[in-house]
This record gives sequence, C-alpha cells and structure tokens, in this order.
Amino acid sequence: EHGLHPPAYGWSHNGMFDTFDHASIRRGFHVYREVCAACHSLDRVAWRTLVGVSHTNSEVKEMAEAFEYDDEPDDQGNPKKRPGKLADYIPGPYENEQAARAANQGALPPDLSLIVKARHGACDYIFALLTGYPDEPPAGVVLPVGANYNPYFPGGSIAMGRVLFDDLVEYDDGTPASTAQMAKDVTTFLNWAAEPEHDDRKKDGLKAIIVLSSLYLISVWVKKFKWAPIK
Ligand code: HEM
Repeated sequence: EHGLHPPAYGWSHNGMFDTFDHASIRRGFHVYREVCAACHSLDRVAWRTLVGVSHTNSEVKEMAEAFEYDDEPDDQGNPKKRPGKLADYIPGPYENEQAARAANQGALPPDLSLIVKARHGACDYIFALLTGYPDEPPAGVVLPVGANYNPYFPGGSIAMGRVLFDDLVEYDDGTPASTAQMAKDVTTFLNWAAEPEHDDRKKDGLKAIIVLSSLYLISVWVKKFKWAPIK
C-alpha cells in the first residue's frame, strides 16, 4: 500500500543550476545531532565532509573529538580508545541491529545517509513524514501497540512517533525553530548527505553549457568565415 502522496514543496535547491542552502544544511545537522541521532545512524558520512560545507575545520574537529573510537591495542594487547578525528565516520547510536531493535520495540531505525535517495518522493516525502503526524489517527484506524499513525508512511502505521515539536532545538543563527523549519533543515541536510557532489555537479553542468554553446557559436562563425570567398 502506498502512503499519501506528499505535496511538492519547491526546495530552493531544486532548479537545474540551484545549489544547496548551506545555512540550512548547518541547521539541519544540528537537528540530526540533537534529535535524530538518538535513534538513527549516518554511517556513510565522515566528519571531514562537513568542513567547508556547513562548519569550519575547528568546529568539526571539536565535534569529532567528543566521541571515542577504538584505537590500536597497546603493547600488552589491551584495547585502547582515542578521541575522534576528521577522517572518522559519524558514530551511530547502537552497537548493532539487535540493540537498535531492542530500543525501538522491534523496529529498526534505518541509516539516514541515503534515505533521501532511497525513498519515493525524496525531500518532499521526508518533510511530509516529519510534519504529518495528526493528533489522532482517523476514526476507525486501529494501530498495533506502540505504532503511530502517519498518512505519508506506506501502510499508515509507523514505529517512529512524532519527533519534532516547536522550539525543540535552539539554532545558533537565531532562526526560530518551528516544527516546519526543523523538518526543512534536517531534510536539506539529509539530501546533502545523500548527494554531497550535488553542488559541484550543477556548477559543472552550467560550465559545460557555457563552454559547449561558446564552441558551437565559434564553429558557426568559422564556417561562415571559411566559406565566405567560395559562395
Ligand atoms: C524511520 C527520519 C528521529 C525512530 C524513519 C524514516 C525516516 C526517519 C526518513 C524512514 C521512514 C520510511 O521507512 O519510509 C527521522 C528523522 C529524525 C528521526 C529525520 C529526526 C528529526 C527518530 C527518533 C527515533 C526514530 C528520535 C527514536 C526515538 C525511528 C524508527 C523508524 C524510523 C524506529 C522505523 C519505522 C518503521 O519502520 O515503522 N525515521 N527520524 N526516529 N525512525 Fe526516525
């Protein structure tokens, strides 16, 4: 069964030459870290990839260093820990799938690295899902114990409850953290995570069009010039 079709929201990065809103990526990472990271991993994202995209080098170093990673064992073969480095990947909340399911009544919170590309509807779906929990399920809908109603989720019954509420986080740029603002920002962040090459791809596309159309115009001119004495 399909979920309710999400509206098309008109993302600022949708146009053929439009790049991501990087202030939104930064706020979205904040939402990921403060809210989603309690349950969802982001396995494919290394700390270093945030540098120059949403955060400065020293900001990212500081965030990475706040986590402990396994290090080479010491001379006696005892396990050792070390603080995180830019090259490390963002750590997930659980040891393994079993622990993840145990914490979520049997459901598995999917890794969010590629979720925007993995789900039909992409950004529109993620935004609609996060903002689409009604106060009450519609009359007549009976849910399994622990399940929540969300019309955008295929089947309507989802293990994740509503997680975003107005002013849940405080943004460092002063943007008011409404539910919709947080949903927009975290979705933009997750789209960047799934397509980090997105901005370069669009900039390269623009360059290619400029170069190729210039070459075409030059070739038209050269042809006219060369054939002029013959005609
Ligand atoms: C599923 C996003 C926070 C637990 C999902 C899905 C997305 C998502 C996109 C997949 C839905 C699908 O399969 O189509 C987010 C975002 C969060 C967030 C962006 C932060 C803003 C949380 C939190 C928890 C959680 C805090 C735990 C308390 C789950 C679970 C599922 C899920 C258990 C699986 C649902 C099911 O298969 O029924 N989430 N999530 N999520 N999430 Fe979250």
